Amino acid sequence: MSHADTLSQTLTLPCGVTLPNRFGKSAMSEALGTIDNHVTPKLERLYARWAKGGTGLNITGNIMIDRRHTGEPNNVVVEDERDMPLLKRWAEAGKSQGGAIWVQLNHPGKQIPRMLASGDTLSPSAVPFGKELKSAFKTPRALTEEEIQDIIQRFARTASICKKAGFTGVQIHGAHGYLVSQFLSGHHNRRTDQWGGSLENRMRFPLEIYRAIRKEVGEGYPVSIKLNSADFQRGGFSEEESMTVAKTLADEGLDLLEISGGNYENPVMAGAKGVRESTVNREAYFLDYANEIRKRVSVPLMVTGGFRSAKAMAEAVNSGATDVIGIARPLAVEPDLPNAIQAGREGVVSRVTPRKTGIKAIDEMAMMEVSWYTRQLHRMGAGKEPKPNESVLLALFKVIATMGVGSFKTRRLRANI
Ligand SMILES: Cc1cc2nc3c(=O)[nH]c(=O)nc-3n(C[C@H](O)[C@H](O)[C@H](O)COP(=O)(O)O)c2cc1C
Repeated sequence: MSHADTLSQTLTLPCGVTLPNRFGKSAMSEALGTIDNHVTPKLERLYARWAKGGTGLNITGNIMIDRRHTGEPNNVVVEDERDMPLLKRWAEAGKSQGGAIWVQLNHPGKQIPRMLASGDTLSPSAVPFGKELKSAFKTPRALTEEEIQDIIQRFARTASICKKAGFTGVQIHGAHGYLVSQFLSGHHNRRTDQWGGSLENRMRFPLEIYRAIRKEVGEGYPVSIKLNSADFQRGGFSEEESMTVAKTLADEGLDLLEISGGNYENPVMAGAKGVRESTVNREAYFLDYANEIRKRVSVPLMVTGGFRSAKAMAEAVNSGATDVIGIARPLAVEPDLPNAIQAGREGVVSRVTPRKTGIKAIDEMAMMEVSWYTRQLHRMGAGKEPKPNESVLLALFKVIATMGVGSFKTRRLRANI
């Protein structure tokens, strides 16, 4: 079978929904909401562009479930039906070529930059960041039982509004150090009640979120989670624990498990550090883990991080390591990649090089990478094509300026609410 044939196969999920091919656009935060976190038509344009490029499954950048807690300025927040008309147009654009569009649901927990946080940041426990990031993020306050229950219901409510708007699935963001992954980690979660301690207790939070969402959206609707294979932190979430969480959610009826890894303190999801060169060259940072999980769990898998060539993508599907190829950065530069591969383009189809400033603290936060790719999303949102030779420093400058002004305006806005 050619690479194109392999990757053009459909995939039927446990809920009965069929994806048209094996290309999954992994979530990339667009920061294309308004300053008060409403949907804009730019999102509609961006997702129409990706749909046109042939991606079978489009997962949106993280949408926040609580207006008081956003990870960046201009995140979209969905807590009520105020944005229903624009949400509908966004969903429609995503499915315009017959593909799926799923919403990624998130709560940042303590991963809110200090300059954006207007009040307390929240986490399972009041564990500060390590010394490198301590100045950029507040030490969080531990959540109360009541707040935990409220957040679980918020995930479910946002899922239900998105379903009503026409999005064809949802994904819980359980990776990269945000609130769900803070609960899972023995380092960040030091609670002694039903939400902390044993793995059974630490995974109660994602499990209850999953159940609450499922109750709202029903059996025939795709529900996914993006989970870290590990967070690569001492005392943190291990691969063994991750597999137990995956198995538990799969037994509950999960439709797709997306595998990633890392957090702000150790951003291996972007290959920034901690990923061996041999792994980067082989593509797919988390394939070993995927092979292991395959032996234990039968849930469909989407492995994300590092895929750059049609050959590596097709081999990963043929070997049975993954069902869907998760792709983020290449699609910010080459939105037509899935169509190009399906039309028979072989070899290295996308070579995304790490973009660095040389300033250690910035590079290690993967800030450079994120800024540059965010700029490409903004171009597509404005109806332009990506610009692969865009200046790295200019992109960083523009994104930092936008973040700085955006954070100031967000804080001022919240102070007036
Ligand atoms: C600009 C940008 C924004 C991102 N935003 C999110 C996000 O909102 N949610 C998420 O789960 N991952 C996010 N990621 C991580 C990607 O989904 C993906 O896991 C990572 O980039 C590795 O995949 P890649 O090698 O194909 O880029 C983001 C990555 C980039 C570059």
